[in-house]
Amino acid sequence: MSDRGPGQGNSTLARILVVDDEPPLRLVLRRFLELSGYDVAEVGTGEEALERIRRDPPDLVFLDLQLPDRSGHSILEAIRAEPATRLLPVVMLTGLATSEQKVRAFELGVTDFLAKPFAPDELLPRVRSLVLLKQFADELEHAEAMIATLARTIDARDPYTAGHSARVAKYAEVVARRMGVEETPLLDLRRGALFHDLGKIAVPDAVLRKPGPLTDEERRVIQKHPVIGEELLAPMKTMAKSLPIVRHHHERLDGSGYPDGRSGPDLPLAVRIVTVADIFDALTTKRVYRDALSRETAYGIFDAEVRRGWWDGEVLRELQAALAESPAETPDRS
Ligand SMILES: [Fe+2]
Ligand SMILES: [Fe+2]
Repeated sequence: MSDRGPGQGNSTLARILVVDDEPPLRLVLRRFLELSGYDVAEVGTGEEALERIRRDPPDLVFLDLQLPDRSGHSILEAIRAEPATRLLPVVMLTGLATSEQKVRAFELGVTDFLAKPFAPDELLPRVRSLVLLKQFADELEHAEAMIATLARTIDARDPYTAGHSARVAKYAEVVARRMGVEETPLLDLRRGALFHDLGKIAVPDAVLRKPGPLTDEERRVIQKHPVIGEELLAPMKTMAKSLPIVRHHHERLDGSGYPDGRSGPDLPLAVRIVTVADIFDALTTKRVYRDALSRETAYGIFDAEVRRGWWDGEVLRELQAALAESPAETPDRS
């Protein structure tokens, strides 16, 4: 944002796109916002708006409800469908909008409404807070993208575990959907699965990549990774509900796992799902000390360990059923 305008603290101007088919309105809005220190572009049709937003997403969009070529609703829908712009603040310009039209806009994820003709005094504080909202959303996305890159980097330290976290997340998601886990907890589960081994960042290469058997001390070092992962992710608000997955993904239902020796009733379904997904991927991929096991061999090992009371048999059955039904769901091994 601008050091000349209201968005202080950043060296680039906050950019606003005005989409309206009435040139006088665009001009007034543009002049007013430019005087307030924003970088403003304007277009008169929906297609031009979408093309511009895709090519170069702005920080805020003013969108007319009725455009000559498309409705504002359909433009809004297209903006929300695109991952790159799903959080972009969109203010709908309404002249004589009916309440049905407003409700529809709400359903499609409109950020705010501005009645035409607009009152300049009201406009500026709203623009300021919406631009700020966009910045927060950007920062959040950057932070998540950075952590995801970090998780991939950790997998890649050991050539045998490259892609492990992404595959575990995919297996876990498929099973969770089958078991009726809803969208929001599913997102927490997915994040937990993606970052479950983040704590391995603190495990030295010599231990992580050691081909032979580990000493007791080396095993202790490795076994710290769930707690370290939890500590690293704890400051992130978005990870709050995923932390139990990170901390407990090496627990067993009979209490013989680590770090806390928790047993069945204290291990939430999300943890049990990720644990099974984690082990399944470890068994069916090549390791430094053995080749990848076939699925059938892996299921055999799992069955024995379910009988010993280590893993959730229902989760295992769902994973087997999912893989049998749609092999296409199987994550890419590349
Ligand atoms: Fe782990
Ligand atoms: Fe793992």
